[in-house]
Amino acid sequence: MMCRCPLEPAEPVATVSTPPRALVVFHSRSGRTRRIGRMLAARLQADVEEIQFAGSIDRTPGYARCALQAAGGHAARVQAARHDPALYDLVLVGSPVWCWSLPAPVRGWLKMHPLGAAQVAFFCTLGGSGAERVFAQMQQACGKRARATLALTEAQVEAGPRAAVDTFVARLVGPHAHERARAGAAAAVPLPHAQGPAHSRDAHSTG
Ligand SMILES: Cc1cc2nc3c(=O)[nH]c(=O)nc-3n(C[C@H](O)[C@H](O)[C@H](O)COP(=O)(O)O)c2cc1C
Repeated sequence: MMCRCPLEPAEPVATVSTPPRALVVFHSRSGRTRRIGRMLAARLQADVEEIQFAGSIDRTPGYARCALQAAGGHAARVQAARHDPALYDLVLVGSPVWCWSLPAPVRGWLKMHPLGAAQVAFFCTLGGSGAERVFAQMQQACGKRARATLALTEAQVEAGPRAAVDTFVARLVGPHAHERARAGAAAAVPLPHAQGPAHSRDAHSTG
C-alpha cells in the first residue's frame, strides 16, 4: 500500500546524557499486544498508553464490527490520552491485525495525536497474515517511517517472545541499553539514524 502523504524524514535524535524518552502505545482486545507492549516498556523504561475505545466498556464493538471497521479504514473515537506523544524521543505503536488492516482505535489514536519530532517503531501481533499491510497503514496514518518493526504471531507470543523483543529493542537503542538504563548509568544512548522505509515481513522483526 502506497503512502499518500509526504513522509517526514525521521529526525536523528541528538546525543543526550540520559536514555531516550520512550512511550509505548497500543490497543489490545485479547491481551497479546498488551503483553508485548508491557515487555517493551519494561525494557525501555518507557511510559505506557493503552488505547481504549471512547465510552463505556459495553460499547466495545464485537468481532464482526471490529473487522468491518478495520477493513473500511475507519478511525474510531478513543479515550483521551494520558501522555502527549510529541514530548517523547521514541514512540512505539502496537496493534493487533484485524481483517488484514489497522484496527479503528489505533487509526483513531494516530489521527488524534500528532507525534511531533518523535521517532516511531511499530509492532503487531496476528494470527498469521496482514502485518506488512498494517505497518504500511500505520506509516500512512502517522506520516513517519518506522525505525524498526516487529510482528509476532499468536503462536510466537504463546511460545515466548522474549528473544524477539530483545532483538527489536537492541535495534532501537543498541544492545544492553535497557540494562544500562536500569542501572542508572549516565551513558549516552542516542537513537541511531533512521534508515530507509519501514520494511517488514510477517512474524519478523526488522530494523
Ligand atoms: C476482528 C479480528 C480480525 C482479525 N483479523 C486477522 C487477520 O486479518 N489476520 C491475522 O493474522 N489475524 C487476525 N486476527 C487475529 C489477531 O490479530 C490476533 O489474535 C492478535 O494477536 C490479537 O491481538 P490482541 O490479543 O492484542 O487483541 C483478527 C482478530 C480479530 C479480533
